[in-house]
Amino acid sequence: MAFGSLFNAFSTDLGIDLGTCNTLVYIRGKGIVIDEPSVVAVERGTKRVVAVGEDARRMLWKTPGDIIAIRPLRDGVIADLETTEKMVRYFIAKVLRRRWLVKPRMVIGVPSCITEVERRAVEESAYKVGAREVKVIEESLAAAIGARIPIYEPAGHMVCDVGGGTSEISVISLGGMVVTNAIRLGGDEFDEAIIKHVRTVHNLIIGEGTSEELKRTIGNAAPDKKIETMEIKGTDAITGLPRRLEIDSVEVREALQEPITAIVEEIKRTLGQTPPELAADIVERGIVMTGGGSLLKGLDHLVSNETGVPCFRAEDPLNCVVLGAGMFFEHEKGMNDHHHIYNKL
Ligand SMILES: Nc1ncnc2c1ncn2[C@@H]1O[C@H](COP(=O)(O)OP(=O)(O)OP(=O)(O)O)[C@@H](O)[C@H]1O
Ligand SMILES: [Mg+2]
Repeated sequence: MAFGSLFNAFSTDLGIDLGTCNTLVYIRGKGIVIDEPSVVAVERGTKRVVAVGEDARRMLWKTPGDIIAIRPLRDGVIADLETTEKMVRYFIAKVLRRRWLVKPRMVIGVPSCITEVERRAVEESAYKVGAREVKVIEESLAAAIGARIPIYEPAGHMVCDVGGGTSEISVISLGGMVVTNAIRLGGDEFDEAIIKHVRTVHNLIIGEGTSEELKRTIGNAAPDKKIETMEIKGTDAITGLPRRLEIDSVEVREALQEPITAIVEEIKRTLGQTPPELAADIVERGIVMTGGGSLLKGLDHLVSNETGVPCFRAEDPLNCVVLGAGMFFEHEKGMNDHHHIYNKL
């Protein structure tokens, strides 16, 4: 035990949020050292990596023929394992430039809907890049820790993480997941829904960059007295010529109806599966939302209205998973100490 503590004092603990949109790395004592899009640019054919992260993102949708920018984790599945591994390797090498005395421990937050095979693959790649110990945990558990929810209490807490490709809703009590539901739908589907709407209603083809900007700027999940507008540019589907169009927030809300309803329904379903005692705690404490998708204006209000349970956004929703992953070992230690005390009683 004493030797173990000494060992851990010299070791580096890394928390990693391997997200479909963004990958973040947290080092104990240093904070968040990597926060970059999960994008890799590779040479077509050879698959040689030319850029990773922010550099690669700038190439997304605008690459010349021989280079392709890939989002290897799109939709919450590891669509391209080899490229995912290269990306993880690159980010870790970037933060651990010098050789470490004691190999680092790593806690990696992944969507709970990934398969056992994918989960093991993530674990293996972490060992390959030099981890001494690897723990792969559900992103909503990490999100709850990162949102400073006292998860080891004997009380029910609900966290809803809306990411880019997945939404995960969990009820946690005594440090464990009591109920978890995950759907492969998140902020990316919001963007796609806007693209589809603009194309169908206005015959205008817009890119993902434009639709994401619409969502962030004037998107609002709940009806609001203030109606905002934004001018967008795209290609006319009939003439093929570039054209401008003014869109308002009411229209964006209509476009987002389907994916938003799906998330709200999943929250309701999870509440329905929650044991009554824990549900009573949740009504009192509220639902905590994390993930970049929760930054959509009005989403917390809409969830409150639809479920009758207060709902609020965590502080720094984009960072909750990585912070929680980074703090996981300390938390676990805290819990074990508790158990020691209980065992002595
Ligand atoms: N201000 C904002 N308003 C609305 N959506 C936003 C805002 N900021 C970021 N987003 C959305 O958040 C999503 C990314 O969130 P996040 O980084 O939590 O996802 P991720 O962790 O990479 O994905 P996942 O958890 O599904 O693996 C994107 O869809 C992005 O458009
Ligand atoms: Mg995430």
